[in-house]
Amino acid sequence: MKQVIFLGAPGSGKGTQAKLLVADCGFNHLSTGDLLRAEVAKESELGLKVKNIMENGELVGDDIVLELLKINCDLTGSQYLFDGFPRNLAQAKALDELVLGGTESVAVYLDLDLDVLLERLVNRRTCGDCGAIYNLVHSAPKVAGTCDKCGGSNLLHRDDDKALAVSKRLAVFKNTITPVLEYYEQKGNLRRIDASQNMDQVLVQMKETLGC
Ligand code: AP5
Ligand code: MG
Repeated sequence: MKQVIFLGAPGSGKGTQAKLLVADCGFNHLSTGDLLRAEVAKESELGLKVKNIMENGELVGDDIVLELLKINCDLTGSQYLFDGFPRNLAQAKALDELVLGGTESVAVYLDLDLDVLLERLVNRRTCGDCGAIYNLVHSAPKVAGTCDKCGGSNLLHRDDDKALAVSKRLAVFKNTITPVLEYYEQKGNLRRIDASQNMDQVLVQMKETLGC
């Protein structure tokens, strides 16, 4: 049983594919972004510390995120899908050394041209009640403003999906991804998926890659 690590730019489809794979293949989805947003929503001490950093599209400190990851992850008998961690080389090494130990893993890079991402992100809406992800252009809810999955009417536009924060997030991604890809390439467990295809096509390729 291999642990799965999703790598990919903001808007590349990590969350979307993770939710589809949880439904079809039974992974535990662990998104550091979701965990951090939950802290912000609770206005916890941690949430208050990271709120501005996230809204500005910058990375939260490695130690904070690693701690959050560790307390939300129990690998015993479970297959995790790590979404949004690691973001840099230090996190990639920490994941191996402090979380995965000797457990086998595969890193899947959702690869696509960054030019399409601004459009995906400014049109994203997320259900504040059940977490379902929509896109007003590519996968709009059937009834505008209402979640198809839970019927809630709390479809949110993330604070960091405004154009300025998106540009910052994409710049951060470009500056940090290369050593991470090289790290997994050298370990021999990097797989690449063409994430410019539509969601169903990406899912098919994902399942082939993960054998589920
Ligand atoms: P995080 O929540 O991880 O955000 P991200 O990596 O920027 O990725 P996104 O969630 O924006 O995109 P996604 O790839 O999940 O795309 P999605 O499936 O939603 O992190 C947020 C912030 O938290 C960071 O900026 C940082 O501050 C902090 N943080 C988190 N982890 C951290 C860490 N490890 N270290 C430090 N700081 C950390 O899809 C996007 C849109 O596209 C949706 O509308 C969707 O419907 C649409 N879409 C998806 N797939 C397709 C497709 N194939 N075709 C067309 N549209 C599609
Ligand atoms: Mg996401």
